Amino acid sequence: MSANMSNMSVLITGASSGIGRATALMLAERGAALTLAARNYAALTDVTEQARRLGGQAIAVPVDVTQRAQVIELVSEAAATYGRIDGLVNCAGQGVLRPALDLTDEDIDRMLAVNTKGVLVVTQIVVGHMLKTAALRATGRPVGRVITPVGTMGRYVMRGSAAYSASKWGAAGALKAMATEFQRQGIQFTLLYFGGVDSPFWDAIDMPVQRDKMLRPQDAADAIVRALEAPAYSVLNEIVLQPESHQFL
Ligand SMILES: NC(=O)c1ccc[n+]([C@@H]2O[C@H](COP(=O)([O-])OP(=O)(O)OC[C@H]3O[C@@H](n4cnc5c(N)ncnc54)[C@H](OP(=O)(O)O)[C@@H]3O)[C@@H](O)[C@H]2O)c1
Repeated sequence: MSANMSNMSVLITGASSGIGRATALMLAERGAALTLAARNYAALTDVTEQARRLGGQAIAVPVDVTQRAQVIELVSEAAATYGRIDGLVNCAGQGVLRPALDLTDEDIDRMLAVNTKGVLVVTQIVVGHMLKTAALRATGRPVGRVITPVGTMGRYVMRGSAAYSASKWGAAGALKAMATEFQRQGIQFTLLYFGGVDSPFWDAIDMPVQRDKMLRPQDAADAIVRALEAPAYSVLNEIVLQPESHQFL
């Protein structure tokens, strides 16, 4: 029997696919109030309808996380619908894995814009909102939780990961710095280092990988939900979850 999260408002970026989508559906089963964001509105609407059928409340908001004005609009819409945001799940991200000498400016700029700046800007704006509305709330919960599946390439490296790892180490640095800055104000940060997860992420990557040996999006969603559900007096800081073939990288 799933725990009831019906009084929790959670904003998920990258909710149209993979880990974000699996997390949305798992939270919907627990009755959470969801704000689902990504660029592909048709895919997002599909997830939103499934989430409602599973018992959650859900709205779909098209957003490109690299565009600050769109992120501000997204947070306003979540606040107008649910009154507050208790949890942010940063799943919007893209991957480029190719030899360092083949990386183009477009590859490098896109990795840093989406995976580093996007996570920083979304977190900045959502946490700003969490802090502004904290006084209005008496939920007995932390003021807010920020959960980010940075991935193992934000902690380790591998061949071909120069641009991707740069973007993920950058995101991890930004999130750890914000954790220090906001810890006394009740904002809790979780960084999740997943190894390969069999999601559409890999469709665009030209590299031989064994997708049947990877984690499933549901495994990642489980860890995210666990971080959101942790007792108020505790914070799940970090998890490394690997396919069994990759223990300790
Ligand atoms: N799959 C893995 O092996 C793995 C392992 C560890 C960590 N991660 C990380 O986990 C996160 C989710 O990955 P995934 O496996 O779920 O990949 P995915 O299935 O490709 O999903 C990525 C999501 O990000 C969204 N997105 C991409 N660019 C965006 C932008 N500019 N603005 C808003 N949304 C954007 C996509 O939606 P739209 O295209 O609709 O915008 C999609 O919903 C990523 O940050 C990834 O780096 C993945």
